[in-house]
Amino acid sequence: MRLWGGRFEGSSDQRMADFTRSIDLDRELAADDLLGSIAHVRGLGRAGLLTTDEVDRLVAGLDGLRADVEAGTISWNPALEDVHMNLEAALTERIGPLAGKVHTGRSRNDQVATDLRLWLRRRLGALDDALVAFERALVTLAERDGDAVLPGTTHIQPAQPVLLAHHLLAYVEMAERDRGRLADAGRRANLSPLGAGALAGAGFPLDREATATELGFDGVTANSLDAVSDRDFVVEALGAIALGMVHLSRLAEEITWWSNPRFGFVRVADAFSTGSSMMPNKKNPDPAELVRGRAARVIGALAGMLALLKGLPLAYQRDLQEDKAPLFDAVATYEASLGVMAGLVETLTIDHDRMRAAAAEGFTTATAVADALVRRGVAFRTAHHIVGTLVAAAENAGIGLAAVPDRLVRDVLGAAVEEPTALALAADPEIGAIVRDGAGLDGALASCDVIGGTAPVRVAAALAAARTRLTTEAARG
Ligand code: ARG
Repeated sequence: MRLWGGRFEGSSDQRMADFTRSIDLDRELAADDLLGSIAHVRGLGRAGLLTTDEVDRLVAGLDGLRADVEAGTISWNPALEDVHMNLEAALTERIGPLAGKVHTGRSRNDQVATDLRLWLRRRLGALDDALVAFERALVTLAERDGDAVLPGTTHIQPAQPVLLAHHLLAYVEMAERDRGRLADAGRRANLSPLGAGALAGAGFPLDREATATELGFDGVTANSLDAVSDRDFVVEALGAIALGMVHLSRLAEEITWWSNPRFGFVRVADAFSTGSSMMPNKKNPDPAELVRGRAARVIGALAGMLALLKGLPLAYQRDLQEDKAPLFDAVATYEASLGVMAGLVETLTIDHDRMRAAAAEGFTTATAVADALVRRGVAFRTAHHIVGTLVAAAENAGIGLAAVPDRLVRDVLGAAVEEPTALALAADPEIGAIVRDGAGLDGALASCDVIGGTAPVRVAAALAAARTRLTTEAARG
């Protein structure tokens, strides 16, 4: 029997029933739906709409269904359209016609909005845990191999050397902001729509705040029309998740390049690689590629959800049923992606020598050499020009900056006729050593000694702070 069947004659067209049904998807909300119903029933009791005995029998029935849902023994009837009507029918089967009182002062519109907020709150907790675990993997690798030196790039060209730990900690920063965005979305979502009814507000004096408190909400939605038609919280969660996936995708992209033998910076563990059905030589970083690919899917979910909402007049429209597929998919995808990236990162083998050799290519210490001249009083613009000239000469000669002969350094400094400090340095007996020291990787790294810089002391402090935070997190959670 259709629960809304009173005014209808005959049966539904099968195509219509198949088309509108959502039980295959929204059964995911069953546990939340039952929690909401129990709180609603208690509220009906407090409002004098149910006797104490009725409340007890209804709650016992709903609790029984919760156990069935948890055990996976509940059987879903596709003819009953969605999770709400399935559960009401199951309750009727269990306790008889009294079940018909549960829906007093409630609509599926405020019901589903409540369910989805409860579901999201629950799942956001799991995402936060997964983000922390991902951060822990980054920090663990940074502690193990973070003294490896990477060729930092801009425009994909060699730029300046950076510590691998510094690079990994950049992703920790992103992950922390991702956690913040999810928490923020969760805070705004944590209001109870129950009592909004279909759109105008329940027709009974329900104490909405008491029910909200019982469900662990921070308060109640303030406008019934908004309550049943608002899916901002879905968009916000998808926005935070899409950005989180973009961050994972950037790291995934880097790992695919780093593991290419041309780079040879890292080896992806066999456990996180796949082979080719035809080429026996192949070892592919497929999980990283799929994280990149799934980021695209999640971005699509966000775009789709925004498009879904843009043309909807108030209040509830059935279009809103389409909010679940993108949200459920994005949350599951993000959680799985965080898990696989944590494993991939933690099991990477770092080739320190290859990384260090690459970090020295492309005159990446040129800025440090220019800075060394500045420390001797040369104007930065002049120093930039002088070192640029040295780089060009070294490139022609096929040597590194540290190997440029002193004679050439003196010639170039001596040509800076407009700058007396440079002219004086040309005659300085130390000048060869100044350039050579500046041109070394370790000196270049050490010189970036500011908050947020790649100097080993700064990175060690940042890494220790990250580890302490994660340890506190573990103690709390
Ligand atoms: N399955 C519906 C959804 O997910 C539940 C609300 C249905 N409301 C209605 N008036 N048909 O949105």
